[in-house]
Amino acid sequence: MTTARRIRTTTRRPATSARSLDELLGDFGTRMPRTPPPAPHPPADRLFPYRVSPRGRHRTGHGWAPTLPPLPRYLMTSEQTPVLWPLIAGDGLPPTGAPMGYNVLSGGGFYCDPMGWVLDDAIPVTNPNVFIFGKPGRGKSALVKAFLLRMIRFGHRSLVLGDVKDEYEDICLALDVTPYRIGPGLPGRINPLDVGPLAVDWEAQDRAELHRRIQVVTSRWLTLVRGLVGSQGVPFTPTEERVIHQVLQDLTGWTRAQTRLRDVTVPLVWAALDEPTDDLVRGCRYDSRHHFYDSTRPLRDALGALCEGSLKGMFDTESTYRPNWRAPIQSLSLRALREQGNEAALAIALMCLSSWGQGARELAAPGDRRIVLRDEAWMQTRLGTEAVKTLDANLRLSRTDGDIQLVTYHKPSDPLSAGDEGSQAVQIAKDLLNLADIRILMGQDAKVADELGGLLGLTPMQQQIVTGWAMQEKGRALWMVGDQRYKVQTLLTPLEQQLTYTNEAIAAAP
Ligand SMILES: Nc1ncnc2c1ncn2[C@@H]1O[C@H](COP(=O)(O)OP(=O)(O)O)[C@@H](O)[C@H]1O
Ligand SMILES: [Mg+2]
Repeated sequence: MTTARRIRTTTRRPATSARSLDELLGDFGTRMPRTPPPAPHPPADRLFPYRVSPRGRHRTGHGWAPTLPPLPRYLMTSEQTPVLWPLIAGDGLPPTGAPMGYNVLSGGGFYCDPMGWVLDDAIPVTNPNVFIFGKPGRGKSALVKAFLLRMIRFGHRSLVLGDVKDEYEDICLALDVTPYRIGPGLPGRINPLDVGPLAVDWEAQDRAELHRRIQVVTSRWLTLVRGLVGSQGVPFTPTEERVIHQVLQDLTGWTRAQTRLRDVTVPLVWAALDEPTDDLVRGCRYDSRHHFYDSTRPLRDALGALCEGSLKGMFDTESTYRPNWRAPIQSLSLRALREQGNEAALAIALMCLSSWGQGARELAAPGDRRIVLRDEAWMQTRLGTEAVKTLDANLRLSRTDGDIQLVTYHKPSDPLSAGDEGSQAVQIAKDLLNLADIRILMGQDAKVADELGGLLGLTPMQQQIVTGWAMQEKGRALWMVGDQRYKVQTLLTPLEQQLTYTNEAIAAAP
């Protein structure tokens, strides 16, 4: 009761007689402290300074809703999600390097820059090698040619190791370069056992460097001889390897500590086996010359076959070819050999060129950036396990920084045809596929879908892109850049269409 009365008294007090505290203090020249005005922006240390209810702010123009809409729920896999939200295109690649066409999902331009991708930590690519797969006629070579041409302005020159159909002739001529032809009856020679640029300034090197260089060169030679011998069905065991290693070191003069390396050729190796020195027989632990002959007969016969027959005069003497590394493109044409129709000889020739190319790029002038192309590599790998191993080693040991290795195949399983399922060959072939972080999958037949899944890890939807969408138009491909996938249409300029035209034979047919 007292409290109520007191309140009433207070409220009854006339308003005029009351002076506020502020007014009272004003008489003394001061005033009550004021609360500071609110900061115009939310404090930087709080991400969400205001709580907004799920129905929005209850203010005009602030999107307030009296009731919440029902939340739709969908249950699906991440593979099905893009069907409902097809424009979620994933991370794009930076617009650097050769413009190739457009990314079909985003509609943006698509650029290919293998070196730039390796240098960019955000892109999961650790080597600039590119494998291109596709059914014949889908546009593999056209894509390669467009890439070679478009990379010229970024300082990349090209080296074509084995142009089987002379289809790089047009772009060579357009760039004022004459392709170098080798084949039966032609004067050009390539020695796959060339020492290559490592022979340059040999005398000026110290012993450790010489040792390193001879290791590099001999291991390439051994890989090639293993491939050549193995592709003729002759086993190449550690015993054969020891003999060939010894012969190669004797022939170069390395064992006699010569100051200059002598050139080695396949006929010289063959002759050294045919007329073995006592040192060789003893050095390889054979009881007698007779024992040596008996044990190395298949090896000698396999090497002898390379000096005769279709390949005679192509790979058996010193190289007459001196690449012009300053020219925008260098191409080695094998068309003359192809016209003979001997596929095995062609495959062996490709193997020789591949190995020679590895050696030729062992050292490069600073700034010499090159695209090294092995078109139709599937021919080589069909020769057998040893041929697959040779290609694998050529790619793996290609050590010039700045070189981009391009390889074209038909199907991912091409190298697998070299051996039985589950064999060592299959494992090697699978490893070969993993050598490139960039893989371009052009159109394939539906029956290849399973191997796209098994060998390259494509999901059913990605397989469908390769066997369906990519088959509908030339130049369409699924690009695998590290673990990222891009659906890309390559575009050719009218001039490029002319330079890449490969259907003359079909068009001329009645
Ligand atoms: N993106 C493209 N646009 C238009 N024509 C193309 C495209 N890609 C390839 N072609 C044409 O298709 C034909 C076959 O291409 P090619 O590259 O030789 O196939 P592959 O090397 O896969 O057998 C060539 O005449 C080429 O000009
Ligand atoms: Mg082709």
